[in-house]
Amino acid sequence: MKCDRHNTPVRRQQKISPALSRQIIRHLLTWFSKNARDLPWRRTRDPYAIWVSEIMLQQTQVATVIPYWIRWMTALPTLANLADAPQDRVLKLWEGLGYYNRARNLQGAAKMIVNEYNARFPESFAALLELPGIGRYTAGAICSIAYDQPTPVLDGNVVRILTRIFGIGGNPKEKVTNTQLWSLAEGLVQTAARIRLSCSHLNQSLMELGALICTPHHPSCDVCPVRRHCVAKRDDRTGELPNLGPRIKSTARNFFALIIERDGQFLVRQREAGAVNAGLWEFPNAELPRATLTNSRSIRAVAKSQFHIAITKPNPLFQIRRSVTRYHDTIEVLRASITSKNALREKPWRWLNLDELNAIALSGAHRKILKRLKDGANAAHCF
Ligand code: ADE
Repeated sequence: MKCDRHNTPVRRQQKISPALSRQIIRHLLTWFSKNARDLPWRRTRDPYAIWVSEIMLQQTQVATVIPYWIRWMTALPTLANLADAPQDRVLKLWEGLGYYNRARNLQGAAKMIVNEYNARFPESFAALLELPGIGRYTAGAICSIAYDQPTPVLDGNVVRILTRIFGIGGNPKEKVTNTQLWSLAEGLVQTAARIRLSCSHLNQSLMELGALICTPHHPSCDVCPVRRHCVAKRDDRTGELPNLGPRIKSTARNFFALIIERDGQFLVRQREAGAVNAGLWEFPNAELPRATLTNSRSIRAVAKSQFHIAITKPNPLFQIRRSVTRYHDTIEVLRASITSKNALREKPWRWLNLDELNAIALSGAHRKILKRLKDGANAAHCF
């Protein structure tokens, strides 16, 4: 059999007849009506609440999102509340979810809706696409779930289902295959609308099937509602579909972070606008080659050149690890004292005590550092 450049057999595209689409839709909807999880954002049709859930669910598991969504909707129940909130409060509500651009974009878009649409959430797909942080997937999800419009969704879950059902061997990240998948997703949701079935439930059934049954590894094909129509199941190809190409190699990076304490207060700084994690707070830190990570001269030199402070010889405390996109970072945390006269009281610097540090938004790794410090302080207190 002819193979493509990933050595995946090239098969003739399965033609999807309207009758097949209708059968698949009916199976999905029946399954969804019995198996849908009772998720808090499924109890509302409020487009603002659905939008917040969809943004939180990007790159984040449902179980992680639930408490965040509940807390957010309690603190900022309306779009106007979000538009008016101080950015620090928005970032604090997002703290720990990562990819903080999502939170900043949510607030930017909320301000635009207040100003340009008189605080009425837009109902048109095209208008939603104009807002920051809203792409084709999110606009499609909001329009279908909140307004029952026949707009398709295509995320990782839906890609997996469609490539498997229809036996699509091309890489979904490549344009031809991506276009093919969007048009399949669109065909399904438009067929659902034509036969007067719920576009909202159809799209959510695809997301749900991908989360519960058609999982990346060891899918539960035996209980899948569309198993009889699935090319990957028939041909035993679930292990090779979707064909996502070779994995991107991760890169190791090394940082040091300084714990500088004075009279019960710790030196922290706020990340500047435009930087990754802009607006979040952190202990002073910088990247260094691995070989110099605990080298006190190198660290003192960086403290001088980047933070404009003189410090005593730093003492290693512990290491923190984090993964950010394709990076694996090790952060060597060291304690030092400041010896320079420079008091570092202006922006972006602040001296904060433990309670104050608790109240501001720290990035994930720096929240972990703070927890270790507090645990250490508590342990010291006990003995
Ligand atoms: N993943 C993306 N959107 C979702 C939703 N609305 N419900 C469950 N999982 C999702």
